[in-house]
Amino acid sequence: MKVYIESYGCAANDADTNLMRNMILSRHEIVGDPWRADAIIINTCTVRGETERKIIKRIRELEDIRRKIGGKLIVAGCMAKAQPALVLNAAPEASLISPQRVSEILEVLESNVREIRITGYGAKSLEGAVKGGLTVTIPIAEGCLGNCSYCIVKLARGGLKSYSIEEIKRVVRKAVEEGAREIRLTAQDTAAYGMDIGTNLAKLLREILEIPGGYIIRIGMMTPNNALKIIDDLMEIYEDERIYKFMHIPLQSGDDEILKLMNRRYSVNDYKTIVRKFRSKYPMGFITTDIISGFPMESEEAHKRTIRVIEETKPDKVNVAKYSPRPHTKAAALPQLPESIRSERCREIVEVSRRISLERNMMHVGRIEDALVLKVDGETAKARMKNYRLVKINGCGEILGRTVKVKITGAKTTHLIGELTP
Ligand code: SAH
Ligand code: F3S
Repeated sequence: MKVYIESYGCAANDADTNLMRNMILSRHEIVGDPWRADAIIINTCTVRGETERKIIKRIRELEDIRRKIGGKLIVAGCMAKAQPALVLNAAPEASLISPQRVSEILEVLESNVREIRITGYGAKSLEGAVKGGLTVTIPIAEGCLGNCSYCIVKLARGGLKSYSIEEIKRVVRKAVEEGAREIRLTAQDTAAYGMDIGTNLAKLLREILEIPGGYIIRIGMMTPNNALKIIDDLMEIYEDERIYKFMHIPLQSGDDEILKLMNRRYSVNDYKTIVRKFRSKYPMGFITTDIISGFPMESEEAHKRTIRVIEETKPDKVNVAKYSPRPHTKAAALPQLPESIRSERCREIVEVSRRISLERNMMHVGRIEDALVLKVDGETAKARMKNYRLVKINGCGEILGRTVKVKITGAKTTHLIGELTP
């Protein structure tokens, strides 16, 4: 059978797509053009309203192709799980498969009837979901322990299910042996890792770091409440040079009342404590945070408080998203702010955070830093410094996969510019 597959969304979804792709390749052929396929798979995301609209449009297009050439359309991923009716409205004959059951893709592909598999859990193996290369992304857990009032991901990906330390170690070891230099550990909340199986992230990291080799680990996003529980242990582990001095701690709002409405289980002060502990040890360390602008009932003062927290804690990068009401979430039932206010607040936050990003990047100009080269595009190389900053190096030779010494000569909001030093 010829199978076409396309994928949207986060690292967890990428991992699910890899798993499906590997399973399909054991028995079928993968093609790059939906018009030449006997079956079409789309692995969906639905985190925000704009994503939803884009995906639905694409499902309609693929359904149109399928109708013309015959065969099956399979809609996988978060939208299939959280909004099956919406998907079936766009493609009435589609088969559905939830993120928990992607390992059943062959049965769904090969079945003569339409399949709806969106409840319960299938058996997912981590090995099959990890793709090799210089950078390797490894999901360490599925789902989360939160219940944030704006979040549809929870509905799609469910409660926390951590992979065992042994399984993760096995995958990391294999990746390193096959030449990986950057290991990205991801999850909806990496700080919650292990809480369902009697262990924690700090223990996992200590175990992984026993694996010898010249790799470096990027720890994915951590909710502040869970990060705070292990912060001292973590800061000790960060001393290892094989951990990027990088933290992704989504704050979402700088106002305690809004955090309560969001059902986030920390205060602004908890977030500040984490930032302070990290930055007092690693002043140049990189902090990414996420903010939702214009959450229901957010007053102008609450919004200003968010801006003040950003100015005070100076995150190196802020992912700002305009609040978007999601079906089946509690926040969607609260009184909503007009679109114009949500957009205006989003713009203000982007402006402030871009200024801070540039300011923080400027601090590096003139320094000489080690950087790991992860990509070479013609004359330009892209490398990551020990604090995860991206540096673009001009006019270089065969340096892919190597750690090089770079003199930082310039700074932009999103990256640094550098040249190789002997
Ligand atoms: N587990 C993560 C969030 C995953 S969703 C956490 O603990 O925060 C990724 C990002 O999308 C979130 O950080 C949030 O900023 C944004 N997001 C999620 N739902 C949203 C919504 N309904 N409207 C706007 N942004 C949203
Ligand atoms: Fe969503 Fe909150 Fe979990 S943002 S993925 S419910 S930690």
